[in-house]
Amino acid sequence: MSVLSIKDLSIHHKMETLVRSVSFEIEEGEWHALIGQSGSGKSLTASAIGQLLSKQFSFSGSISLKGQSLFDLSKKELRNIRGREISYIFQDYTSSFTPFYTIGKHFDEYIKTHLSLNKKERREMATSALEAVNLEGERVYKSYSFQMSGGQLQRAAIALAMLLKPKLLIADEPTTALDSVTSKHILELIQKLRVETKCSVLFITHDLRHARKYADHISVMKEGEIIESNAKKEIIYAPKHPYTAQLLSAIPTISDRVSALENVEVLY
Ligand SMILES: Nc1ncnc2c1ncn2[C@@H]1O[C@H](COP(=O)(O)OP(=O)(O)OP(=O)(O)O)[C@@H](O)[C@H]1O
Ligand SMILES: [Mg+2]
Repeated sequence: MSVLSIKDLSIHHKMETLVRSVSFEIEEGEWHALIGQSGSGKSLTASAIGQLLSKQFSFSGSISLKGQSLFDLSKKELRNIRGREISYIFQDYTSSFTPFYTIGKHFDEYIKTHLSLNKKERREMATSALEAVNLEGERVYKSYSFQMSGGQLQRAAIALAMLLKPKLLIADEPTTALDSVTSKHILELIQKLRVETKCSVLFITHDLRHARKYADHISVMKEGEIIESNAKKEIIYAPKHPYTAQLLSAIPTISDRVSALENVEVLY
C-alpha cells in the first residue's frame, strides 16, 4: 500500500481554483520530487497534506496516509499525525525555531507533546538527534537560533522533523536559501535519514537539478496541475510534456543529464 495517496485534489481560495485535480502516490521509502516554477501550487499541495492551510481554503478530492483519509480526522488526531507520521521542513528554517527559546527547549516541548519521557530522557533524545545530523548535541541544545548558521539551523530543523521517525518527510525547498555546498550536505543528510528510517520523502523544488540525484519519481506541476509524473529516468530521458523538456533544458548537456542519474558532483 502507498504511504501517501492523493486523488483528484483541488484547492480553492475564494473564487479561484489554485490547485486542480492533482493525483499522485508515494510508496514506502520513495523519494518523490514535486517540481515546477514559482506559483505552480507545490507548497499549497504540500500544506494540504498536513492540513496546514487556513480556513480560507477549501478542498475537494482525497488525501490518505497508509489508507487513512486525512480529511476525516479530528484536530487531536491530526496533531498526533503531524510529527509522528508526517513532518515538514521548509525553505525558511528560521521558522522552525523562535529566537526566544533555545534549540533544546524546542526539542523538549516537541518531545513532551508526543512522548511520556522524563527530563533526562528528553534531553538525551534531543542531543542524540542533533548529533545524528552532525551537530554538537550539547552545545546546540543550549544555543539560540540566532547563534547558529543557516546550514546548522536547517540540520537542527531536520533533526526535529525526523525525531519521531515519521513515515513521510515533506521538504519544501529545504535547500533554496543555502549555498551550494551546504545544500549538497543537506540533500545527503535527508537521503541518509531516509535510508536509516525507511521514510518516504516528498521533496519540493523549482529546480530540477535539486531533484535529480536522489529522486525515484518526479511529478511536474504547472499552473496548479500535474502535467507529468513518472520514474526519474523517464522524465530525464524521455520527457513527454514540452514544459518538462523546458525544465530539462536548464540542465545544459545530455552528459550532465547522465551525470544527474549517477553522480551529483557536477551539480554544484
Ligand atoms: N494564502 C494565499 N492566499 C491566496 N492565494 C495564495 C495563497 N498562497 C498561495 N496562493 C496562490 O496559489 C498559487 C500557488 O502557490 P504556491 O505557494 O503553492 O506556489 P509554489 O509552487 O509553492 O511556488 P514557489 O516555488 O514560489 O514556492 C499562487 O498563484 C499563489 O499566488
Ligand atoms: Mg512554495
